[in-house]
Amino acid sequence: MTSISVQPVTGALGAEISGVDLAKDLSDDTVAAIRRAWLQHLVIFFRDQDLSPAEFLAFARRFGEPIEYPFVKGLDEFPEIIPVLKLEHERVNFGGIWHSDTAYLDVPPMASMLVAREVPVAGGDTLFANMYLAYEWLSAGMKRVLDGLVAVNSSSNADVSRTREDRMKDSGRTGAREEYVAAHPVVRVHPETGRRALYVNVAHTVRFEGMTQEESAPLLEYLYRHQVRPEFTCRFRWRPGSLAFWDNRCAQHNAINDYQGHRRLLHRITLAGDTPKGP
Ligand code: SIN
Repeated sequence: MTSISVQPVTGALGAEISGVDLAKDLSDDTVAAIRRAWLQHLVIFFRDQDLSPAEFLAFARRFGEPIEYPFVKGLDEFPEIIPVLKLEHERVNFGGIWHSDTAYLDVPPMASMLVAREVPVAGGDTLFANMYLAYEWLSAGMKRVLDGLVAVNSSSNADVSRTREDRMKDSGRTGAREEYVAAHPVVRVHPETGRRALYVNVAHTVRFEGMTQEESAPLLEYLYRHQVRPEFTCRFRWRPGSLAFWDNRCAQHNAINDYQGHRRLLHRITLAGDTPKGP
């Protein structure tokens, strides 16, 4: 038995979970209830969680295997935890573009978690979008076309590369490749729910396999606009101690860069995933 309460935050995705202290040793029932809520709502939020890095990692390990981020070093004692930081004088924020984390890897991560350490008085919210809905709202004809396509994803697109430049300067990881490239189905079948989700994103997707960038651009641009329609999204306002946990297989996110002159620090853990499968 578990006493957690799950409150959806929009009609599209996202739910706030209360009644649980994530620093404690959670029962298997509680972990199962959190996982069910996460699969149903795609991103779940917790408030007022006073987690040390070790406790954050222990919580993450109840849901999967933490992995290191290719481009930025983690904390000294916890290489699986990276600081998502923007300093007062910096102009560009980490992750400030719609994306699913590291979709340019052959085996992209299942999930990511962020816990907020320092947040601006106002601004610095994160948007999330539901890629099941993005797929389901397409016409039957468009679904048929997309079901058979594969997309090429790269880590080197200019817009996304800019969002990690500041952190690579002070905490870049040695040994990272110049570029990571991976081809994945445009429509991904979720390995746990069996639902279909759109799996292209404006940060990483370059073109459809077997087509040029120029040929791919009109349809990709349509999908980038379509997949983040307001009715597919939710917006999360951070407080210190807030924790978000999202499913990269069926949700995208975008960190809003509207707090110039202020500092924002969150800690991120990413959990290992599987090779995306098409329909
Ligand atoms: C990220 O893309 O992981 C960062 C999101 C955020 O800072 O809100």
